[in-house]
Amino acid sequence: MALKATNPTKTQTWEQLTSHFNSIKDKHLNELFNSNKLRAEQLSLKWDDFYVDFSKNRITQETLDLLIQLANEVDLKDAISKYFSGDIINATEKRAVLHTALRAPKDAEVFVDGVNVIPGIEDVKQKIRNFTDRIVGGEHKGYTDKAITTVVNIGIGGSDLGPAMVVDALQYYKNHLKTYFVSNVDGDHYQEIIKNLNPETTLFVIVSKTFTTQETLSNAKSIRAWFLESLPKEAVSKHFVAVSTNIESVKTFGIDEQNIFPMKDWVGGRFSLWSAVGLSISLAVGYANFENLLKGAGKMDAHFKSTSFDKNIPVISALLTIWYNNFFDAESEAIIPYTQYLNQFATYLQQGIMESNGKFIDRAGDKVNYQTGTIIWGEPGTNSQHAFFQLIHQGTKLIPADFIGFVKSLHGNKDHHDKLMSNYFAQTEALMNGKTKKVVLAELKSQSMSDADIETLLPFKVFEGNKPTTSILIQKLTPESLGKLIAMYEHKIFVQGIIWNIFSYDQFGVELGKQLAKTILGELNSEKPSVIHDESTQRLVDYYKENR
Ligand code: F6P
Repeated sequence: MALKATNPTKTQTWEQLTSHFNSIKDKHLNELFNSNKLRAEQLSLKWDDFYVDFSKNRITQETLDLLIQLANEVDLKDAISKYFSGDIINATEKRAVLHTALRAPKDAEVFVDGVNVIPGIEDVKQKIRNFTDRIVGGEHKGYTDKAITTVVNIGIGGSDLGPAMVVDALQYYKNHLKTYFVSNVDGDHYQEIIKNLNPETTLFVIVSKTFTTQETLSNAKSIRAWFLESLPKEAVSKHFVAVSTNIESVKTFGIDEQNIFPMKDWVGGRFSLWSAVGLSISLAVGYANFENLLKGAGKMDAHFKSTSFDKNIPVISALLTIWYNNFFDAESEAIIPYTQYLNQFATYLQQGIMESNGKFIDRAGDKVNYQTGTIIWGEPGTNSQHAFFQLIHQGTKLIPADFIGFVKSLHGNKDHHDKLMSNYFAQTEALMNGKTKKVVLAELKSQSMSDADIETLLPFKVFEGNKPTTSILIQKLTPESLGKLIAMYEHKIFVQGIIWNIFSYDQFGVELGKQLAKTILGELNSEKPSVIHDESTQRLVDYYKENR
């Protein structure tokens, strides 16, 4: 059954939210804390090894109640049940959206076209496990009988970002295999990586859901040509495997059927790291860790599916985005992990969130008259503090931020971890409280400055505060907690899409540029000058042709 299509701005609750917004928009977070001593407790959730504190957001209990009422008015509950049960909620591509089935219990039943997909998922997992064990254990030998020491993932978008982010995030759990990721069609990318490779000991994992993607196929072809400079054709089957839904094209490319790890079209690219697309993860950290990643995501699925909205982490988190995006007119959100391991997390979420919810047509096919997907950006703390935090603290834009921290460090360096975490706490405190004129004045006076200098400097030193943050504090970065965190954002994306009344699981917006690039590529290789472009593009293309 199709998802309902309700314009959120036409609901009764939207009207209530609008008048509620007018009554609290100028309230300072300080004021909200002063007027309710239980605020921090009431607006935070403890679940499993997660402690999520929403209290530094510009909301009251009434805001939350109204936002939940909005979720109920657009029938989020019904949508969640359709999401998990394999309904065709990716209506424009006529597909189910079932990355959740990939981490469902073995005895679960999820049907697509009347067939339970769980046994098929388990078969692929078994294949990943066996292959991982053979590569990591050194049983699988390369063509010249040497063990594999290096894995190269060749893919782009969802076939790169998820595995690359997770392998980086879980490097503490990594085995002896070296892992590289080739994604960009820029030839310099793969050329730099092959400098580090010995073809005799390298395994190439070509990952492409469609197996039609220009970047991935070009990289795979060039790398195979490089490989064949030192080894014969028969060696390919020992060194190249593929992950795809498009089995025929993989075979045509020259990969043996037994070396293909299949995936299904009901797994969206940007949600696919749980499928065979995660093969590089399994190889890098071992199958048991990969399984724990899935287990963590499965726990978040159960939390999301069965917890009332007022205690539901992904639901509240999504509602907050709607609050800032649609009422405060905030355009972007920052994701700031306080761990270097999550260095690629914001980049990964950029695809997850922006490719999903960057849509201007609603589920009824009409142009929306309200804002949808937010701009996602971020970098780990404390590096980001020394880069862009100035703007968050004293700029003119409202930027709600998620602060992700861990109670325990992995290497156990207490001194460094306490320093890191003191920054984690201090930044949200500073963003919220700011620094008043009075405090600045007292501070400057204590520095024996002249009154004239104090007066000049004073306005620059004031922090208005009232900058919203959500603190996500997790016990420890493990494969399981990472699985929960990623799944939390996946469900957040879903909830936002439901409320914004858009289809989150297609990505037609990436097609136009690809089409035009194909045409231009033809022109770059043709003698005839083309005259089909606008003047600016034409001049740029001509300049390139003349000067390359
Ligand atoms: O960027 C568009 C996109 O279709 C993504 O959604 C996808 O993850 C990526 O390209 C790669 O696609 P494929 O896995 O089919 O090569």
